[in-house]
Amino acid sequence: MARGIGKLVSIAAINGPNLNLLGQREPAIYGKTTLAQIESRLREVAKELDVALSFSQFNGEGDIIDAIQALKGAADGALINAGAYTHTSLAIHDALTSVSVPFAEVHLSNIFAREPERRHSALADAAVGIVAGFGAIGYELALRGLVSKLSAND
Ligand code: DQA
Repeated sequence: MARGIGKLVSIAAINGPNLNLLGQREPAIYGKTTLAQIESRLREVAKELDVALSFSQFNGEGDIIDAIQALKGAADGALINAGAYTHTSLAIHDALTSVSVPFAEVHLSNIFAREPERRHSALADAAVGIVAGFGAIGYELALRGLVSKLSAND
């Protein structure tokens, strides 16, 4: 938790499988922006909002769960794009509810307008909110929304 060192809130952005390939991966669906560019923009917004930000990506489900478990006592909130695990992972859901860290679910694509197997999120019922379909800017929108909620501005 970053309180006490001058920052108001500490947020962890956690990305799941294949998101390291953004920019090259199916750009018609996910856009041309790379994950490094998303991180860089999110860091600018975090600075503007006076928020401490960590940003990570993991291809393995267990690695994502480890990262979520590590949030307890270390972060005030999280942005999660769990990639394809979004649609299947009760284990990621349970990790999120176990640590009780408020989180926003982010997707570049509108998962509810895609193939039937992508229209369900195993995480959404535990999320503060969801941003889906706006491409890379969705991360920024989710950060602003989550920080607003955490700061009780909304
Ligand atoms: C995604 C949507 C998922 O269905 C897909 O498996 C991804 C990316 C998105 O950001 O749109 O990897 O989470």
